[in-house]
Amino acid sequence: MSSGFDRVDEMTPKKLSKDQSHLVSVCLNGRNRKAMADPRMLLTDWLRHELGATGTHVGCEHGACGACTVLIDGVAQRACLTLAVQVDGRRLDTVEGLATSDGDLSDLQQAFKRHHALQCGFCTSGILMSCSDWLGRIEDRVPTEQEVRDMLSGHLCRCTGYTPIVAALMEVAQARFERRKEYLLSINDNKESSHA
Ligand code: FES
Ligand code: FES
Repeated sequence: MSSGFDRVDEMTPKKLSKDQSHLVSVCLNGRNRKAMADPRMLLTDWLRHELGATGTHVGCEHGACGACTVLIDGVAQRACLTLAVQVDGRRLDTVEGLATSDGDLSDLQQAFKRHHALQCGFCTSGILMSCSDWLGRIEDRVPTEQEVRDMLSGHLCRCTGYTPIVAALMEVAQARFERRKEYLLSINDNKESSHA
């Protein structure tokens, strides 16, 4: 899949004592948060147990299911393959940050709801985070269904059969593309009228 899981390798941890906890500070969904972490504590456990961010789910705990996917500095990553101490000083985005502070769902969440793209919801937060990253990278075009299915191949869903998820994603990609096209056209129109 093309969501950039290679970034974990770039996060070289500082030299840390294995016998003591360390303070880890992050910007989580736009808010500064910090908590202690043992050197081997997984990011999934730190988010859920230390910060109370339980929207990030834990499935296989070895990188196969995608349920734990979060954005680290804007890139989708497996939180179960990341140590909490590796994210010190970084920006994290989790499913809790997708809706507005007033509780309005994002366009992606609304499309999932409309298309019944979730049943038990266990896989959903991870899929939403991968989609958020991926859609942001392809905003200048509409992906093919095969591309969407390839991207989703990094996630396991035991409920939906994937078809409604694909439909929701295709709809959001198309709508974002149309909005972007209109925006670019309006900028162009403004430029031309200011030169007239
Ligand atoms: S819990 Fe991380 S990939 Fe399954
Ligand atoms: S909605 Fe149940 S695992 Fe995906």
